[in-house]
Amino acid sequence: MITGASSGIGEAAARLFAQQGAAVSVMARREERLRALAEEIEAAGGRVLVTVGDVTAPADVARAVDATLAAYGRVDAAFNNAGWGSVGTPLHETDDADFERVMDVNVRGVWNCLKRQIPVMVAQGAGAIVNTCSTAGSFATGADASYVAAKHAVLGLTRAAAAEYGERGVRVNALMVGSTRTELMEGAMSRVPGLEEAAVARAVQRRLADPAEVARAALWLCGDGASFVTGAAVPVDGGCSAV
Ligand SMILES: NC(=O)c1ccc[n+]([C@@H]2O[C@H](COP(=O)([O-])OP(=O)(O)OC[C@H]3O[C@@H](n4cnc5c(N)ncnc54)[C@H](OP(=O)(O)O)[C@@H]3O)[C@@H](O)[C@H]2O)c1
Repeated sequence: MITGASSGIGEAAARLFAQQGAAVSVMARREERLRALAEEIEAAGGRVLVTVGDVTAPADVARAVDATLAAYGRVDAAFNNAGWGSVGTPLHETDDADFERVMDVNVRGVWNCLKRQIPVMVAQGAGAIVNTCSTAGSFATGADASYVAAKHAVLGLTRAAAAEYGERGVRVNALMVGSTRTELMEGAMSRVPGLEEAAVARAVQRRLADPAEVARAALWLCGDGASFVTGAAVPVDGGCSAV
């Protein structure tokens, strides 16, 4: 199950997981984008299920989990990736409504997913969850303060869930993602002068990530190759957290 699969990292992950033989279940709000992706995956011989919904709505998340179970009988892995932030607004100029929206999508969205995915995985006796966090989940990145706070909370939820359900076979990890060339980042770079240059300068690899590079890390964390990895904050950031 992959949330935020209508663009960027989630879309790349849906393609990659399907190529690797996973039956995928994708969720986001933009139906046309999800249907186009599903057509592409099916044309390549993959299995895909589409749920149009909002991760901030518990009923939508429950519908996606239930539909996945009904279609496939299990939820082996979940990539809770939907997120949003409005990079570049100073804290004192941020609307309260924007703060609430950022917390809602990033924190409540992951919360809603964990609440509904974990019981399924506990019943199976196995499961792997990957939450999309950010370098903004470890330190202040110059992104907006609400986004930094929200991604710190996503890391907190990840660690708490890993600690609580490790004995019951459920692994929960966070990807600490650095600047990645997606709609979210392209939008921010077009609004904020110098943002792209600053992002490139922060990464020791001196470039932004391609969404597929983040998707490959998610695939590894969801698979048996990461069987003894849980509660981890895994950097996929071109080395920017190393310096
Ligand atoms: N790009 C970066 O530099 C970067 C760096 C660190 C972390 N991240 C994180 O990576 C994740 C993916 O972002 P991205 O960069 O791939 O951006 P993106 O291309 O804008 O994708 C964001 C995805 O989240 C979905 N989404 C947003 N709000 C949603 C909601 N309320 N309910 C359901 N789906 C929702 C969007 O779909 P709909 O609009 O169709 O709903 C879209 O599929 C986010 O958690 C983001 O915070 C990105």
